[in-house]
Amino acid sequence: MSKGVIRLWPALRRSRISPNIYGHFAEHLGRCVYEGIWVDGQRRVPQEDGLRLDILAALKHLRAPVMRWPGGCFADDYHWRDGIGPKKERPTTMNLWWKQGEPNQVGTDEFMRFCRAVGCAPYVCCNVGSGSPWEARDWLEYCNFGGDTTLTRQRAANGSPEPYGVKYWGVGNENWGCGGRYRGGDYARDYARFATYLRAVDPSVELIACGATFDDYKNPLFNTFNHDFCQEMPYPDLIDHISLHRYFKRGDGVKFSDGDFHALFADVLSLEHDLELTESVLRYFYPHKHVGIAVDEWGMWHPSATVENGLEQEHTLRDALLAGSVLNLFNRWSHRVSMANIAQTVNVLQCMAVTDGARMFLTPTYHVFDMMRPHMGARLLTRELDVPTYEAHGVGGSAKRSVAVLDASASGVGRKILLTVSNQSIDEDVETTVELREHTIASVSGRVLNADDPRARNNFDTPGAVKPKRVRVDAEGGTFTHVFPAHSFTALTINLA
Ligand code: AHR
Repeated sequence: MSKGVIRLWPALRRSRISPNIYGHFAEHLGRCVYEGIWVDGQRRVPQEDGLRLDILAALKHLRAPVMRWPGGCFADDYHWRDGIGPKKERPTTMNLWWKQGEPNQVGTDEFMRFCRAVGCAPYVCCNVGSGSPWEARDWLEYCNFGGDTTLTRQRAANGSPEPYGVKYWGVGNENWGCGGRYRGGDYARDYARFATYLRAVDPSVELIACGATFDDYKNPLFNTFNHDFCQEMPYPDLIDHISLHRYFKRGDGVKFSDGDFHALFADVLSLEHDLELTESVLRYFYPHKHVGIAVDEWGMWHPSATVENGLEQEHTLRDALLAGSVLNLFNRWSHRVSMANIAQTVNVLQCMAVTDGARMFLTPTYHVFDMMRPHMGARLLTRELDVPTYEAHGVGGSAKRSVAVLDASASGVGRKILLTVSNQSIDEDVETTVELREHTIASVSGRVLNADDPRARNNFDTPGAVKPKRVRVDAEGGTFTHVFPAHSFTALTINLA
């Protein structure tokens, strides 16, 4: 067994971890919205006005802070007027990217009702690719304006006399790809038009620009997108966040090799590199404005998830460990990462839960979100790791990276500290001394997510194969020793004396 040290400085509190880092994303894609969230007319599924109760309860338990909707690629071909008013009169349209019919039974008013039931903030992504500034500003007026207009009367007739107060507005999605195949400079010119009118309708909204995705560090199109966008968009008052997407793929979803397992955590370091690249452009072009990075799509995308099966895939312990490492990274970047939205809430990609008629199971990733809940809104602590490392290549032609076997972040609220640790080795337990500088520990309690094999998975046959178990920890003074098992995720609550 190898040895390690984690040092924490409880007095050195840094940035506040935005709760929005623990956000979600629901697209009209496969069975995410219809069946996953909306089950109107399916009498066997417990529901309240069309919203399935098991999913509401699961998201409420996580205290889900924010939900991005309606896409994804779907957003840049969505016309919001198709989704309001009497349900029978709504058209069935073509869901262009996901090759299915869109019945428009879930539209703005149903989505707002869903967000209210969960208790999360809605984040609406508007249509730049095939839409217009006119359509987008009308949508914002419909949602947020408090005065008397034809649109606000329509909203009242559709059930909400009060404005919805939607704070987050995305100006398109992946506009370098499915959102219109823009070059950075061209997107900037359209962005400024959309943002001008959105800002004028409601100056309090936060606007999210589409940023680059660094799939391949050698591809100049992606490397210059953010630079060209910022250069052609010299109006910092029009931008509050810039997006970044990162999907992870290493081997099969279940039958991955040990090498795939280790390379996946080098990919997390590549994501950190993406954050650095994005931040350096923001610092250069907007030195006097703090523009956040919204990683508004991220997660595992296994080869089994295809357009044909609505991007459905398996859910192993490895996926959950990846989520733990990525969320630890976002905590450490909470000075810049203002939001993150794992893709996607139900049934699709790295979701929280899978449904089948009235049945539902929670994925291993759900448990990581649950174990990390106390980080939301807490202050990041300074921490130092002295642990073994291994070498692996990250994605996109990046250099070989040195991956720490243990990855951790810590945060504090009052005298309570949460330390979350991912063991990123497939076979190495690490006996670790945790030292708290200049503080005495009253007690430590914790939970671990682990299994004999990282390929263990939750499904309808074994819904509880991967679930957290309590761990016992004895502390003395300001120190304790704990073994973080191979391929595990641990959350320890440390109560200071
Ligand atoms: O999450 C699935 C798709 O992945 C989204 O629609 C798109 O934005 C991304 O490429």
